[in-house]
This record gives sequence, C-alpha cells and structure tokens, in this order.
Amino acid sequence: MMARSIPPSLLCAIMIIACFNSSLSFAKQSKINGLKMNVIDRCWRPNPKWRTHRSQLATCSVGYVGKMTNNIGKDLIHYTVTDPSDDPINPKLGTLRYGASVIQGKVWITFQKDMHIKLEKPLLISSFTTIDGRGVNVDIANNACLMISKATNIIIHSIRVHHCKPQAPGLVMGPKGKVVPLGHMDGDAFRLVTASKIWIDHNTLFDCQDGLLDVTRGSTNVTISNNWFRNQDKVMLLGHDDGYVRDQNMKVTVVYNHFGPNCNQRMPRIRHGYAHVVNNLYQGWLQYAIGGSMQPSLKSEANLFIAPTTGSKEVTWRKSSHKNGDRWEFHSVGDAFENGASFAVTKGRHVPKPNYNKEQSFKVVDAKFVRSLTRSSGLLRYNRASIY
Ligand SMILES: *[C@@H]1O[C@H](CO)[C@@H](O)[C@H](O)[C@H]1NC(C)=O
Repeated sequence: MMARSIPPSLLCAIMIIACFNSSLSFAKQSKINGLKMNVIDRCWRPNPKWRTHRSQLATCSVGYVGKMTNNIGKDLIHYTVTDPSDDPINPKLGTLRYGASVIQGKVWITFQKDMHIKLEKPLLISSFTTIDGRGVNVDIANNACLMISKATNIIIHSIRVHHCKPQAPGLVMGPKGKVVPLGHMDGDAFRLVTASKIWIDHNTLFDCQDGLLDVTRGSTNVTISNNWFRNQDKVMLLGHDDGYVRDQNMKVTVVYNHFGPNCNQRMPRIRHGYAHVVNNLYQGWLQYAIGGSMQPSLKSEANLFIAPTTGSKEVTWRKSSHKNGDRWEFHSVGDAFENGASFAVTKGRHVPKPNYNKEQSFKVVDAKFVRSLTRSSGLLRYNRASIY
C-alpha cells in the first residue's frame, strides 16, 4: 500500500540511498572487521564472493609456509567431493580419497554438502592438493585420519577432525596413485612425515587417541594457523624423536590458534628445530603448554597464556637429555600472562629471530588483541548470518 503511494522519482532516490548505504556499510564493516580480523582472514573473508574466488586463499598464508601460489594457476583441477564413502585401495570417483590421492597435479578439493567421512585407512594426501571445507561442515572422524608423507605444497582448510583411532598396517592408495603398504599408525588427526610447505588453517581438532598434529622426520616450512585444538592430552609434536637429527632444520610457525579447553600438554612439544609461536590463545593446560628437548629453539611472541585454576602455572617444560648439556632456547617476547601464568625463559642469550623472507613475514599484534584475533579459530560457521 505504502509503496504504491510513493512517486517513482522518490522511490528511485530511496533506492540510491539504500544502495549507497549498503556499499558504505560494507566498506565500514570490512574496516571494522579488518581491525578485528587477523592478517590471514583479512586477506579473503571480507570478499563477499569468496566462494567463487576460492583460490584467492592461496595468497593469504604467512609464516614459514610462505604463499601457496604453487597450488593455483591455469592447470588447476577443480574436484568436488560428492560421496562420503571410502575405499582405501580402489577409491571411487566423487570420494575424498579419489581427489586427494588418485588425482595428480594441482587439485582444489571442495565438498558438495555437509559430510561425515569415516576413513577406512589413513588418507595419504598428494603434493599440490588443497582440501577446502569452507562453507560446509566436513567431519573426518571415528577411525583413520590424515597423513602427509613425502609431499609438498598442501593446504588443509576448514575441516573438523576428531576421534581418530590407531590403525593396523595395511594397503592404501598412495600419493602417486599407486597402492602402497602403510605401517601401524598411532591415531593422530594430522601426521606429517618428511613433508614441506604445508599450511593447516581453520581446522577444529579434538579427542584423538594419540595426538592432534605431528610434524616429523625432516618436515619443514609449515604454518599452523587459526586452528582450534581442544580436549586432548598430547596436542602437537614438532620433531620426531630425540635421535632424529634431521629435524634440526625444521621450521614451523604456530599462529592465531586457540588451545583449549581441556588440553594437557604439547602446545607444542619441540625437538631440535625452530618454532615461532605467536599470537595464540592458551586457555589453560594441565602439565604444561610449551615444552621440548634436544636443543629446540622457541620464540614465543605475543601469546596470551591463561593459567589453569588448578595445576601447573608454568607454561614451559624441559626434558633433560644429559648427553648434550641440556640446552634450550626458550624465549618469551611480549607474551601476556593471566591467572598467575609464568614462563621460565632462557637467560643471557639472543632471542633467535624467525628470519622470515618477504612472503613469510607478517606483523605481530599486541597480545592484548589475541582474544579477538583468535575468536574465529577452527571451522568457520557460515549460518551465523554471514556478517558481510
Ligand atoms: C623452505 O623454505 C625456504 C624459503 O622459501 C626455501 O629456501 C627452502 O628450500 C625450503 N625448504 C624445503 C625443504 O622445502
């Protein structure tokens, strides 16, 4: 009734104002959100058309992984998972395993709909693979989980991985599309073995039999960002074992993650290599948050450590290995401590710098913003009237 009485010229004016307003509010919104969003999210989330520009994500990574531009380009294969079933030896077209293990070259995997995938055997992910669960709810749970072995240039984004169980040795489709024998697996959510240039962003990991994320056997150039780790004893292991000296070259960036509630230890536990642990939220721990052995180097920078009400208030833990004179480089720069948290630093030494190159470097934000920077860690929820 009202509309009919409005003259066309006025209606036109109203529409212009409406349009102007919405474009203004979009600009304003992304600015407001820009202040709240961390540098990775700010690179793609304000784009209302991110669903049709998914490969933009490849330019958003920071830290040791650098940019993921090897994962995109004209020769990129787009693959949609339509079938949640799994056959570890003869994967069907439409399943996740077909996309991740059989297809060679650059592949960008998305999911047609919400899916619960129970893997019959660990999923071996090929080089140049992106698994992109943005916009849907993908759970990989209740049996075998993910493995990256001797592979490089891999993005894993926005999936939920939980209740991973140990696996007996057996045959699986390997990363070169060939069936390979696989040994016993402990039941980790993500296991990296001799892997490099791996970006793990916005995943939610919890309740696994062993750990949530292991970076082992000479793996390096890894960025672990925006993930939510919760309900777990052993959270993250960087470095295979005390004897594996090749891990001296390991470089890992751990940024904008949320640890807790109900995490006990290893956030992360570092052997040999170097970890830049920055702008993460630690919502308590039981034994410790960050620990290590075998002369690890850690730069803990602008994290927020909230000590548990009961249990240890100390963030760090050091395992003695008398053979090499017990050296640790555990440094804390600009960290914030709440609830009585403490951090035993290495005294009298230089803080080892990450020495990032241009592609890898990013601005570290003051620890007082960590709560808001990590607010959307883990799987992003789009049903919340997508802010943009
Ligand atoms: C790690 O990244 C650096 C910098 O991009 C590169 O020089 C080095 O070769 C990479 N190492 C591996 C094992 O990929």
